[in-house]
Amino acid sequence: MRTAEIYSCRDIARHGDKVYIVRRFVAYAFGDNNGVALRCVACGAEYGPDFRLFRCPRCGGLLDVVVRGKYWAPKGSGIWRYATMLPMKTGVTMGEGRTPLVESRLKGNLWVKFEGANPTGSFKDRGMALGVTVAREAGAGKVVVASTGNTAASAAAYAARAGLKAYVVLPRGNVARGKLVQAALHGAEILAVEGYFDRALSLVVDYGTKYAYPLNSFNPWRLEGQKTLAYEVYEELGCPDNIVVPVGNAGNIYAIWKGFRELGELGLCAKLPRMVGVQAAGAAPLARAWREGLQNPLFLDSPNTVASAIRIGRPVNWVKAFIAVRESGGMFVEVDDTEILRAQLALARADGIGAEPAGAASIAGALALDLPGVTVAVVTGHALKDPDVVEVKTVPVASQEELISALSR
Ligand code: F0G
Repeated sequence: MRTAEIYSCRDIARHGDKVYIVRRFVAYAFGDNNGVALRCVACGAEYGPDFRLFRCPRCGGLLDVVVRGKYWAPKGSGIWRYATMLPMKTGVTMGEGRTPLVESRLKGNLWVKFEGANPTGSFKDRGMALGVTVAREAGAGKVVVASTGNTAASAAAYAARAGLKAYVVLPRGNVARGKLVQAALHGAEILAVEGYFDRALSLVVDYGTKYAYPLNSFNPWRLEGQKTLAYEVYEELGCPDNIVVPVGNAGNIYAIWKGFRELGELGLCAKLPRMVGVQAAGAAPLARAWREGLQNPLFLDSPNTVASAIRIGRPVNWVKAFIAVRESGGMFVEVDDTEILRAQLALARADGIGAEPAGAASIAGALALDLPGVTVAVVTGHALKDPDVVEVKTVPVASQEELISALSR
């Protein structure tokens, strides 16, 4: 593995149009035997840190990044605050992470980790900071994602920041307006396909990866960025008893679990949290299988929920999600659309936090369950992502008198 040359965005900004090449790639990680490897989560086979290997050549299983020399020394901001726990020391950043952890007024012992406060309004930014850095390191000029919208918005923004071109493959009619606007604004090439997210993803897997670097969550490097959520929760609250996460393509629940598991390995968390995965009732291939005690998901071809971000019938990371839930002693549950929309309103009105429907699914789950101890619900995306689900009532006012009468009601 050659030593990489990484452009630090901070340096580029500081020196204007003079671009300085900074050699500060993971010498500690790739330069010695204590370094970084890929390990198959199914058969345990290990491989070198190949940025273009996404499936185990031996059994086809999903891969996981193993960082051997890691230690706990948070410093600075963005996901790179945890550089000593990551496979790279530095890279592209927009100050992602450091999102608010707010004590909820909805229920005792409930905390909300508001990922809508990330630069593009969802948790995807944590993964894209690392993913886009890896894409550039892999020599790619282009990145590609299939998306229900948030991955597209984030990939578009981070690719722009890194000087890469982004292609986003979206299921026509299944993407919320705010996310489309973001992808367009940041200059991504938007390709709309018929069908659901699952079809868009299989097209990216079959064709996209030949032409551009894929940044969907089957890319294990991206999930390394997303695991930093666990580190932030740990820094503020220690190790909670439960983490409740909305589940769609099922990468994030595993990434967060991996973060906590690593804190456990370093002796920082004595007791690891239970991972609770929440799916929407009309798109619940994992929660249904879990309820019936099955070892495999109950995939569906026509997922249906108001929470378009998690309108997914065949989650690519299901094996990892099962690992997270089983290892942690957690569970999968489903909530229906009414519960999701009620939770969205309740969160907005009791806590002042605006979530898109998928983001509020974790709140719906936390409110429906009687979880013992301290619970952190991850609110994954901002309300502005999906403005069309919110009913807007206005009071027409024609005169000063009408205004005064309205204000005094
Ligand atoms: N919440 C939001 C707001 C999301 O956008 C997503 C996934 C999830 C939860 C589920 O996370 O897939 O890791 O289980 N959105 C993807 C996308 C699929 O394309 O933006 P997951």
